[in-house]
Amino acid sequence: MNLAGKRILLIVGGGIAAYKVLELIRLLRKAQASVSTVLTAAAQHFVTPLAVQALTESRVYTDLFSLTDENEMGHIQLSRAADLLVVAPATANLLARMAAGLADDLATTVLLATDKPVLVAPAMNVRMWQHAATQTNVALLARRGVAFVGPDEGPMACNEHGPGRLAEPQAILEAIAAALTAPRPLAGRHILVTSGPTHEPIDPVRYIANRSSGRQGHAIAAALAHLGARVTLVSGPVAIPDPAGVAVRHVETAEQMLAACSASLPADAAICAAAVADWRVTGTTAAKIKKVPGAPPPALALTTNPDILATLAAPGPSRPLLVVGFAAETENLDANAIAKRVRKGCDWIVGNDVSGDVMGGEANEVHLVTESGVLAWPRLPKEEVARRLAMQVADHFAGRAR
Ligand code: C5P
Repeated sequence: MNLAGKRILLIVGGGIAAYKVLELIRLLRKAQASVSTVLTAAAQHFVTPLAVQALTESRVYTDLFSLTDENEMGHIQLSRAADLLVVAPATANLLARMAAGLADDLATTVLLATDKPVLVAPAMNVRMWQHAATQTNVALLARRGVAFVGPDEGPMACNEHGPGRLAEPQAILEAIAAALTAPRPLAGRHILVTSGPTHEPIDPVRYIANRSSGRQGHAIAAALAHLGARVTLVSGPVAIPDPAGVAVRHVETAEQMLAACSASLPADAAICAAAVADWRVTGTTAAKIKKVPGAPPPALALTTNPDILATLAAPGPSRPLLVVGFAAETENLDANAIAKRVRKGCDWIVGNDVSGDVMGGEANEVHLVTESGVLAWPRLPKEEVARRLAMQVADHFAGRAR
């Protein structure tokens, strides 16, 4: 493995597994990576700065927060000078502090200040790992884009058995290499994605909805995040989990979706995959509408919802550089999609043939309509459609100034 020229900032937490990072450092140095180290106060009970410094052949920073550390290289500079931050071992306490956004020592301050990818190798007692608090913290960090390696399962220093052991140094090294080599052409871009249906209330218990599952929009958000974009996903009510590494704003109605989108600007691109309800009910009541035996059904008065795509695509200082809409059609796919691109004022339209089981299904057949023509993709899994669309977005931004 060759990691020549790669700069790793290794943050060592306090746990018995800390001794294993000496082997990790040895492997990283063998792969020609340069390694700077931050030792938490607890970590220094398990490994000494001297041992780490001897192996890394570079400066070891402690969380004493001495003026020398701050003067020589402030915490911002420390993370700026790294390609990847690796936290190993990450204790339950360190994970909790990361999840809470605390900055109460050098390690957590660097982690809060960084815009670089972060890889975490947890190690702790099995019951601490399985505790709901730790699992919630891990899920939260994963949603923010933090990558994890391990923990492994096996006998532990505390005489218990189960998940909680630090991943083997070789496995951490491989995860580091994967994190460093993953292409991130959309790094530094903020992309807004809408997904799912909207629910338009009739009264407190009834609403108008549609069959959108959110699968395509969520897959697009995940694919963009995978290419390094900072993604804000504004999602209507769906039954699928939030994608990893994406900031999700949950909304119910079209009006809420528009407000959440507007609040998420500026963005470099907006991809409107949501099946926004065209109409909402006017004069909704705070009380449930009573079914009176023998009385005629109530008449619903509808009004038109705001068009989120057209609003985002409207010329103005906060218009994203690239605005993409969807056109769900059952006939004349290309002609309708081309007309919709002009009507909505957006840059691209993803025309999808929704005759059959597309809504809520696993696959999608789409035609990408841009200024320069129509790109027809065959019927593909929604994840593959998302991956191809994310690649098109990356190509669009390639070489453009931020
Ligand atoms: O007008 P139509 O619903 O066919 O347009 C579909 C496209 O417009 C999709 O991209 C959808 O997300 C978006 N749209 C919207 N707000 C609406 C209606 C549609 O953003 N109120």
